[in-house]
Amino acid sequence: MLLVIWPAFPYPDAMLYLDVNVPATPARSYRITVGSGLLQGVLDQVAQILPRRPFLVTDTNLMRAGLVDRLLGDRTIPMFVIDPPGESSKNLHTLGQILDAMEEAGLGRDSVLVALGGGTVGDIGGFAASVFKRGIPVVQIPTTTLAQADSAIGGKTGVDSGISKNAFGTFWHPAAVFMDVDCLRTLDQRYYRAGLVESVKHAMIADPGLFAYLEDQLDAVLACDPTTMIHVVLCNCRIKAQVVEQDPDERNLRRILNYGHTIGHAVEAASDYQLLHGEAVAIGLVAVGMIEQRLGLDHGDKLQRLIAMLQRLKMPTRIPEGIPHQKVMRLLAYDKKSVDSRPRFVLTSRLGQVYCPAGQWAVEVDLGLVDEIVKELC
Ligand SMILES: NC(=O)c1ccc[n+]([C@@H]2O[C@H](COP(=O)([O-])OP(=O)(O)OC[C@H]3O[C@@H](n4cnc5c(N)ncnc54)[C@H](O)[C@@H]3O)[C@@H](O)[C@H]2O)c1
Ligand SMILES: [Zn+2]
Repeated sequence: MLLVIWPAFPYPDAMLYLDVNVPATPARSYRITVGSGLLQGVLDQVAQILPRRPFLVTDTNLMRAGLVDRLLGDRTIPMFVIDPPGESSKNLHTLGQILDAMEEAGLGRDSVLVALGGGTVGDIGGFAASVFKRGIPVVQIPTTTLAQADSAIGGKTGVDSGISKNAFGTFWHPAAVFMDVDCLRTLDQRYYRAGLVESVKHAMIADPGLFAYLEDQLDAVLACDPTTMIHVVLCNCRIKAQVVEQDPDERNLRRILNYGHTIGHAVEAASDYQLLHGEAVAIGLVAVGMIEQRLGLDHGDKLQRLIAMLQRLKMPTRIPEGIPHQKVMRLLAYDKKSVDSRPRFVLTSRLGQVYCPAGQWAVEVDLGLVDEIVKELC
């Protein structure tokens, strides 16, 4: 991974580049550009690095927020606008509509798909790019706190089935990623705050400095101050990129990114997806913090600091009323990391360090203890 800061500090006038090396892909590496006010120049940059016919995938909220106009300027390019926006459209039906629209626009293998939006647009756009004419490059322009911290990097694409989330998908690494923190300004506050939980997660597993920075600068983060957000986004990219470089196909190390997600996913599903992903992961982080305390892995104030941070983010730290603890426990057995229906957990031994006994990044925890903690949180 190579990090270049150009031309210099302070951040708002600087263009920051971070190259992610993924040797197994045709391009071998891709560049993440982070900055403020860069959206309007992105298509020129894309034309330089990928001189191909662009096709835009976005959604109605991005149109309404004026971000599509800012990206396009006076250009006209073929596009598909997802309607309704959000998770309910992240399915095979919309995928088919996108692919049909690309064919109708007469696109071939000489095209590039540009995905402007949150994680749902990025996931379905990346999936469409990976199967259109056996695969064309995708450029990701993430516009949510979650997508800039997490989903736009790493190459996981997908759609939901009627039964489960992200049931179908591919690994398709982007050809380039552009992150403009100004795009976050029009995002709904609930999504803005929930997406920041992924930054808290990254800090917990890999970067105590980022955790302290978030504690100090949370007001500036919540106000979407450009310098602060560029720093936060960049820290996230560095952490995620380092993990993805070492384990692009999630065979081992990449599991650490699921910190807080084991119970988080179960709570998210148990709420019938009324909780946002980040809200459910906030509860999952607290649960895993309690497990760490009981196992003697937290000798300090890690859990108190986490809870204080989540409360400032207005995230739930307990399982909301109406979600029975048995339902959470039942869903835990279906976790992807479960072995013989027994869930595995990523744990930290201290802030910024994942617990890894005998080379295992996800470990089994006594189900009785898990049950006790889920009950306490209800
Ligand atoms: N591929 C991965 O590695 C990965 C990782 C984590 C999550 N995900 C996926 O990401 C999705 C969630 O992503 P999300 O939280 O970004 O949600 P989202 O894409 O649904 O966006 C949230 C809402 O905000 C709107 N929106 C987005 N950007 C906006 C902006 N700048 N201004 C105004 N409105 C805006 C969207 O239209 C939507 O209504 C889930 O489907 C999840 O499975 C993927
Ligand atoms: Zn997550």
